[in-house]
Amino acid sequence: MQVEIREAIGSDFQAISGVVLSAFGNKEGPAIVQLIADLLAYESAQPVLSLVALIDKRIVGHIFFSKASVNNSGGEISASLLAPLAVHTDFQSQRIGGQLITEGLKQLSRSGIKLVFVLGHPDYYPKFGFSEAGIMGFDAPYPIPQKNTAAWMVQELHPGIFKSISGRVICADALDDPKLWRE
Ligand SMILES: CC(C)(COP(=O)(O)OP(=O)(O)OC[C@H]1O[C@@H](n2cnc3c(N)ncnc32)[C@H](O)[C@@H]1OP(=O)(O)O)[C@@H](O)C(=O)NCCC(=O)NCCS
Repeated sequence: MQVEIREAIGSDFQAISGVVLSAFGNKEGPAIVQLIADLLAYESAQPVLSLVALIDKRIVGHIFFSKASVNNSGGEISASLLAPLAVHTDFQSQRIGGQLITEGLKQLSRSGIKLVFVLGHPDYYPKFGFSEAGIMGFDAPYPIPQKNTAAWMVQELHPGIFKSISGRVICADALDDPKLWRE
């Protein structure tokens, strides 16, 4: 099965929404579609990286990265936050999510991003190089409940950057909502 991955364009939004609603369901999905719209609209999220995965020209997966930074005394560092990632239910467990993550990280690395953060499944993202961020000294924008601390993860794209930086992560305005970090 041939999977094509490319950057999303404006006219993909409806198909992306369909993928997100399928993956997250009708209860959680609409708020995630709105989150993507907000991240695209607001300056604080830029630069973003929005990639789609296609099979036979149909969009079946989507990944979104938005700008993040680390509040520390060592100066500005280029960072990004992965959210959301969705693969249509008909196409899950076919390595599409993994390919979107890998391609996204490759493109971010090429554009000079040094750290990538994610709040997600702690059994999934470590397969792609993420590890627990709290242990590395990175606090989430809002406190993560104790039972979920393993879900807050980071990956360095610039070897050795972990040694020189730590602190609280600042995210785009659209993600700057304590409710999003509590669940
Ligand atoms: C999570 C998701 C993006 C993974 O995409 P995918 O294309 O199905 O994943 P891949 O094929 O790359 O990887 C499949 C592997 O991940 C595992 N996996 C899938 N969802 C998982 C989860 N929630 N927790 C842990 N592992 C998970 C599968 O069991 C499979 O393991 P295996 O390789 O050992 O068989 C997709 O299942 C999805 O859209 N889920 C609903 C929305 C969601 O939870 N998004 C992520 C928010 S953090």
